[in-house]
Amino acid sequence: MSDTPIDSSKRTWLIASGCAGAVGGVATAVPFVSTFQPSEKAKAAGAAVEVDISALKPGEKMTAEWRGKPVWIVRRTPEQLADLSGLNDQLADPKSERKPDEFTPAYARNEGRSIKPEIFVAVGICTHLGCSPSDKFTPGAQPSLPADWKGGFLCPCHGSTFDMAGRVFKNKPAPDNLEVPPHMYLSETKLLIGDDKKA
Ligand code: FES
Repeated sequence: MSDTPIDSSKRTWLIASGCAGAVGGVATAVPFVSTFQPSEKAKAAGAAVEVDISALKPGEKMTAEWRGKPVWIVRRTPEQLADLSGLNDQLADPKSERKPDEFTPAYARNEGRSIKPEIFVAVGICTHLGCSPSDKFTPGAQPSLPADWKGGFLCPCHGSTFDMAGRVFKNKPAPDNLEVPPHMYLSETKLLIGDDKKA
């Protein structure tokens, strides 16, 4: 376990080499990169990205791109939301009190780390060395996960696990929760990623 701060350059998801030394890391990272098609809009430095979430069903995740990074949008089920409150003892930073300005905007400093309880928005980059964690939404025992797993994300590179609010579990290599990027709702079904100050 390490509490060494990771500078921002090391957190870029493009540094797949950060995973290269880990068994299974490359196999997981490569398919993700090869299917990732950056939009023209997102290529513009710092441009906020509008995302239509109207087709996103409970239990599903979609990925947008912002500043060259994958941004996950998950519509959590009522069961997934209910499970969050029982996990605090197992989490390293359940209330997102570490580096809140860097990882958790004020409007996401709540249990679900979100504006709307059901919609979770996070940068899909592990806070350890920058791999992209895998979806592990199915509860229960499975490889690399505990028997009481409630659903969340598993980083294949060094085994960090995160709950459905991107909160990192204790005693894992990742030092922080997943980053919640600046975002806001333009309407019920349209999100703006990368800007939270427009009207
Ligand atoms: S990059 Fe090491 S656990 Fe995620």
